[in-house]
Amino acid sequence: MKQYKRTLVTSALPYANGPVHIGHLAGVYVPADIYARYLRLKGQDVLFVGGSDEHGVPVTIRARKEGCTPQDVVDRYHNIIKKSFEEFGISFDVYSRTTSAIHHKFAADFFRKLYDEGKFVESESEQYYDEQAGEFLTDRNIRGECPRCHAPEAYGDQCEKCGSTLSPDELINPYNAVTGNPLVKKMTKHWYLPLDQYQQWLEQWILNEHKEWRPNVYGQCKSWLDGGLKPRAVTRDLNWGIPVPVEGAEGKVLYVWFDAPIGYISNTKELCDANPDKYGQWQQWWQDEDCRMIHFIGKDNIVFHCIVFPSMLKAHGDYILPDNVPSNEFLNLEGDKISTSRNWAVWLNEYLEDMPGKQDVLRYVLTANAPETKDNDFTWKDYQARNNNELVAVYGNFVNRALQLTKKYYNGLVPQCGELTDYDKATIDEFKDVKQKVEALLDQFKFRDAQKEAMNLARIGNKYIADEEPWKLIKTDPERVKTIINISLQLTANLAIAFEPFLPFSSKKLREMLCMDSFRWEELGSMGLLPAGKQLGEPELLFQKIEDDVIQSQLDKLEATKKANEAETWHAQPVKENIQFDDFQKLDIRVGKVLECERVPKMKKLLRFLIDDGLQKRTIVSGIAQWYEPEQLLGKEVLFIANLAPREFKNGLVSEGMILSAEDWDGTISVTTVEHEVKPGSTVC
Ligand code: MF3
Ligand code: ZN
Repeated sequence: MKQYKRTLVTSALPYANGPVHIGHLAGVYVPADIYARYLRLKGQDVLFVGGSDEHGVPVTIRARKEGCTPQDVVDRYHNIIKKSFEEFGISFDVYSRTTSAIHHKFAADFFRKLYDEGKFVESESEQYYDEQAGEFLTDRNIRGECPRCHAPEAYGDQCEKCGSTLSPDELINPYNAVTGNPLVKKMTKHWYLPLDQYQQWLEQWILNEHKEWRPNVYGQCKSWLDGGLKPRAVTRDLNWGIPVPVEGAEGKVLYVWFDAPIGYISNTKELCDANPDKYGQWQQWWQDEDCRMIHFIGKDNIVFHCIVFPSMLKAHGDYILPDNVPSNEFLNLEGDKISTSRNWAVWLNEYLEDMPGKQDVLRYVLTANAPETKDNDFTWKDYQARNNNELVAVYGNFVNRALQLTKKYYNGLVPQCGELTDYDKATIDEFKDVKQKVEALLDQFKFRDAQKEAMNLARIGNKYIADEEPWKLIKTDPERVKTIINISLQLTANLAIAFEPFLPFSSKKLREMLCMDSFRWEELGSMGLLPAGKQLGEPELLFQKIEDDVIQSQLDKLEATKKANEAETWHAQPVKENIQFDDFQKLDIRVGKVLECERVPKMKKLLRFLIDDGLQKRTIVSGIAQWYEPEQLLGKEVLFIANLAPREFKNGLVSEGMILSAEDWDGTISVTTVEHEVKPGSTVC
């Protein structure tokens, strides 16, 4: 294994066209942060780079929708996203943005070098053009009739009705999604990165030299390579982005996936140029074989980070390549795909409003459920269970016992450790073994298992103190209790270190309670972290139990979202076949007054009505008990069908007619009434 001097950790630059949600955190930012924190605790030279991805079509679409400029959109979301990351303790050394002047220049220079060296292929092709608006359109901005299912509003890349993947050329009568104008074809010139020329090199580099990459990453690369790579356009006809730095390329910008990964480099440069003493030169991170680069991303980014960006770096020639690209699969929410447009997400900014101070709980749950090898599901019930049964009952409980007993028996002073029993020794050894497991797992980017092992450290402590029962021994053998508490406190101090990468807020709190000065990963396993006689701080609970009502209100919130989405996508039924006026006249619809209304015993769905129909009183039974309290309908004038043949129910009740009601989109029933009072028996026509 090669020894590196430095590690550069990058995490995908999120699009600044919306806030970030738990899927982003679980997939990319928490694992990247755990890794960066772990290496820092080990005293290694690490740089953790992030930033916002602020170009691209979605930003322009959002801006048009909101009637503001693209810059307004990215300013707003960059700030929201940056704040969320800070609040969740994502410990970026730099978090900048791709609209920065440094980035624009850096990315343009990068393009220009490749251009000057003839690394691109120039090619003209026909693209859809809106003559009235004077602009070329990207796939997503083109709509038209789906060639498969003939839905009228399919997108240039996909039909949402039938799910087919499309290309704009296939759409029938394509039009501009924003202006509605019809489109024509027009020639336009673009620059392509000839990925086909990198195919062989990529096969060697990935398939032969990086067999250790996660199977999902390796597999996706292999299938792209097996399919044969084609040249990829790296420019676009768009007015939002970095202008293509070539004469005659007016109105063209760099493709967002060309400029964004360069953002990792320009953000590093921005940081290093401002603090060279602390961070060195940016080239030491990017152009020095002694630096090891790790990209943390989600699975939809694999091709860009494993194939396109490395080819760009290779074409340039001066750069190192990623050593690993730990990519996660997707996180679902309560069984459904997380979706920004359907608002099906737990947004980080909202989470913190609802659950103040519970950053570590979410970090813990997202890592415990990290979608490392397959898509995974986040549920609020699981969140609650992990908090209550693991964080509170194991880790928190152990720490609290150790600290409370120290306070009670020794006024918060660390007691002297006496002679160790075999059980003490076994506990300490077991603890050291687990430490090695945590390390090995972190080194392999297996964060879920690593955290599980860290939790095992807390289990060891919890079991130790529960088995030893110092609260019983204090009467009979107070000397022995000193040793038990000393060991428990040393384990507690160890936990503060072991959990720092995962749960930094709790570790900080614990470290403060323990007044620890030294805090290094290498000390894990040591039983001398807290010298005897040391004064500890005031104990506080690390975690609080989460009650059912808190979880229920989150579930209610999601339920409301689901309802709102259904209401939005609801469509009225198609109209039935025509009937003649005579057919209609056969129906005797009239107004009746509700004289009595009551529930039917043993028949949950039914209400029994006694109706004044103008001639006599009649009984009508109706299956609407779920929607009304009987009193609500008493005295009301309702519409009913008077000449429907009587129908008998199971229990012998006979219904002489049918009350008319409307069924809303969600199945809710609303009984029809008249707009102002009329005589019972009035006919409806
Ligand atoms: N914005 C992209 C996404 O959210 C990720 C860009 S990563 C970078 O999918 F490398 F291009 F920066
Ligand atoms: Zn379709």
